[in-house]
Amino acid sequence: MRALRYSAAPSSWTTWTPNLSAGPPATPPMTEFADGELVLLVDKVGRKHRVRLKAGGRHSLHSGAIEHDALIGRQEGVVVTTQLGARLLAVRPTFAEQVTGRVRQAQPIYPKDLGAILISADLHPGARVLEAGTGTGALTLAAWRAVGPSGLVVSYEQREEFLEAARRGITDTLGELPPNLFLKLGDIYQGVDERDMDRVLLDLPEPWQAIPSVCSALRPGGIVFAHCPNVSQVQRFFEGLREVRGFGMLEVYELLQRGWTVRGRSLRPSHRMVAHSGFLCFARRIAEGELFEPEGEGFR
Ligand SMILES: C[S@@+](CC[C@H](N)C(=O)[O-])C[C@H]1O[C@@H](n2cnc3c(N)ncnc32)[C@H](O)[C@@H]1O
Repeated sequence: MRALRYSAAPSSWTTWTPNLSAGPPATPPMTEFADGELVLLVDKVGRKHRVRLKAGGRHSLHSGAIEHDALIGRQEGVVVTTQLGARLLAVRPTFAEQVTGRVRQAQPIYPKDLGAILISADLHPGARVLEAGTGTGALTLAAWRAVGPSGLVVSYEQREEFLEAARRGITDTLGELPPNLFLKLGDIYQGVDERDMDRVLLDLPEPWQAIPSVCSALRPGGIVFAHCPNVSQVQRFFEGLREVRGFGMLEVYELLQRGWTVRGRSLRPSHRMVAHSGFLCFARRIAEGELFEPEGEGFR
């Protein structure tokens, strides 16, 4: 019943009773593909095609068409052949493939960063998370999965069309909007209703403008995260935290992901890599008026 402790909760929260049995919607059983399921078809050059299966349906590719009925009822991992003879591997998309494969209006956080954010911001089961902006809902979904059915995620987005697109994307992925995930239309720079949150996640053009909201929403000991594509944003965000005080253990890092080819005699780094995407900034909410920054680089 932790969510009912909030003093300034939106009216929908007051009637919300956490349903502890409501975990993530049942994943389709890991057996045969069913009518209506989302399937990933991987071709021989590694291109991935998303297909929503429909009995009697047909999907056309450059390499030929595939009948949906050739997949419905087959085991995940089956290799099927188009009518032009091209071989395609059929699997269910992973979380990363789902969030990056969607048509989108905002730039989602890269999967390489999502994993690190969940661990560095310590999004644990039961945590109460405030987020802004929702964007495509990629970080929202990752956070919701991490906090589980006993946690809470409230996400602010100032653009209605983005919020609606995120709602559709989340519903498409989970089958429904879970009862412990709230999408709110609003400008976080103008303040938030939430109090006593364990984590605040920011992916905004000017995260320093959200600091007053972070101060009112985040409990002592809680962690604030900000994703900043430019180092000038990191600098202003950290300056803002130092100015208001009440934050400690400021740290920032970035992740470069370099794949490798390991095939026959070809053992080398990939020609392309996911290099810079954004700086990942973290800080802890500490006692009012304090500023605590260890001088060493510490251990991560
Ligand atoms: C880079 S996108 C966020 C992407 C998101 N993290 C994801 O994984 O898809 C930034 C979002 O913040 C929203 N935004 C910008 N300023 C905002 C504000 N003051 N309050 C709430 N949302 C805001 C934008 O409309 C945009 O959707």
